[in-house]
Amino acid sequence: MFDSLFRKKPLSKILLDAEQGVDDGHGTHGLKKILGVKDLTSMGIAAVVGAGIFSTIGTAAFNGGPGISLLFIITAVTCGFSALCYAEFASRVPIAGSAYTYAYVSFGELVAWIIGWALILEYAIGNIVVAISWSGYFNNLLEGFGLHLPAWLTTDPTTAKHAFLLSQEAVAAGTPLTESLLYAQNAWNTAPVIFGKHIFVNLPAFIIVVLISILTYIGIRESKKMTNFLVVFKLLVIILVILVGFFFVDPGNWSPFLPNGFEGVLRGVSAVFYAYIGFDAISTTAEECKNPQRDLPRGMIYSLVICTVLYILIAFVLTGMVPFTQLKVADPLAFVFDTVGQKWIGYIVSVSAVIATTSVLLVFQLGQPRIWMSMSRDGLMPKAFAKIHPKYQTPWFSTIITGCIVAIPSLFMESGLMTDLTSIGTLFAFVLVSAGVLTLPHVTNIKGTAPAGKFKLPYINGKFIVPVLYIVFIYFSRDRVLSAVQNIGNEGLQEILFLIFIILGAILSVLTFIRNYSIIPILGVLFCAYLLIEIPALSWLYFFCWMGVGLVIYFSYGYWKSKLATNKS
Ligand code: ALA
Repeated sequence: MFDSLFRKKPLSKILLDAEQGVDDGHGTHGLKKILGVKDLTSMGIAAVVGAGIFSTIGTAAFNGGPGISLLFIITAVTCGFSALCYAEFASRVPIAGSAYTYAYVSFGELVAWIIGWALILEYAIGNIVVAISWSGYFNNLLEGFGLHLPAWLTTDPTTAKHAFLLSQEAVAAGTPLTESLLYAQNAWNTAPVIFGKHIFVNLPAFIIVVLISILTYIGIRESKKMTNFLVVFKLLVIILVILVGFFFVDPGNWSPFLPNGFEGVLRGVSAVFYAYIGFDAISTTAEECKNPQRDLPRGMIYSLVICTVLYILIAFVLTGMVPFTQLKVADPLAFVFDTVGQKWIGYIVSVSAVIATTSVLLVFQLGQPRIWMSMSRDGLMPKAFAKIHPKYQTPWFSTIITGCIVAIPSLFMESGLMTDLTSIGTLFAFVLVSAGVLTLPHVTNIKGTAPAGKFKLPYINGKFIVPVLYIVFIYFSRDRVLSAVQNIGNEGLQEILFLIFIILGAILSVLTFIRNYSIIPILGVLFCAYLLIEIPALSWLYFFCWMGVGLVIYFSYGYWKSKLATNKS
């Protein structure tokens, strides 16, 4: 049994499957190969620039002050290591499935399943957050036009109840109600009541997911055109924000640079990382690329570089325009322009936020079905998930299921925990992709002649650099390490996670010293692992539950039906 858990899919077989397409019972249909490097870069930007930079940056800047720009740089470096490892894989294993497929080649079936299951968090659960954020901005825009949707139709039950309780407290304390509390009170009073329960649903979030799902069902070409258009628009607006914003910067706001120390900056880890999620999503479209081995690595790296430059500039503009203490708002980019008396730019930013989040939704709704398609081809999911529409040439069944599991929770869910789960699931995948590169066998193309990959990760021997960096890290965090070790018996989960990271760092330093591992994948693992352990421990508990459910499904279905088990490959 132990061996079969780690059965690996041969690379030659994977490439053959992708070349031949899959017989879904109605003949063999391949996916349309139409994406070039420009489309892929555009899709990367489409997936990355969204709710993160338009929303979560606000709270991160509030906690960290102007020094938050450092976190944008650190996170970009972390994502850079992972992007290079993704690029190496994408070049060598140019088929749909992303980290799931990469893990199947390098670590075997069980880890591949675990990653596939974690990626549902990044794509589907992540999209619930984006849909909720879309709904908020969309509602703001409607209000701007004087159109008012009933409040009970634009919010989830948890948020509505929480806001109502706050408004009650304010009334009891005799403090005047703010605009948002008045809105909450009105929502509660006007909501329909069924069996004594107030009904709240986030209808715009539901509708946008349904519309996007229809688009992704119809076809990749339509999705591509739409994505390119949305990306050009949002990039123009972001450049406008940066250029105009610099005229309103007061350099005095950049001092002090680290008002809450580096600790304050690190509190923004999850939010800032969330803003970068997405460049990896384009690897799910490998089979729709004209030349995936050349274009996928370029697309990922170009989109990451463009977003990094824009993000760092935005972080400086944002914290330079108003004191950081004012930035704890849901729409910080629009807010700073309102504050300096440029309401019209604030309005353009809101339009752009709606457009930006639409394109994020689009890319992730495209990505999830393609991962399921790969898992189904391998026998780990039922056959229907690999069915390709004879006319539209899209994985239609998986697309519909993705639509349902994002649209329905979007009606009721609250977004806070979902953001953490999305970041954990994504970082988890990044760790395994980085580690996987170290195990990747040297391969040739199907004919066995030339090297299959067209992107090669530069090799820099980490023998001495990794152990030295590890020692430097231990030196600077010696107080935390000592305190965690001394109190190990009654330590909370957060510090246990920290100690696990310290042990992981020691093991990797020794292995790198002995085996001369390349520095890029090792630093990829360590940086991502560090960001992971900074995410609140409570969210980790939910993550473990999610993974538990995934393992139960694997051992009751995939383990027995896997093509590698039944030898149908
Ligand atoms: N990076 C994506 C966003 O910020 C998930 O919306």
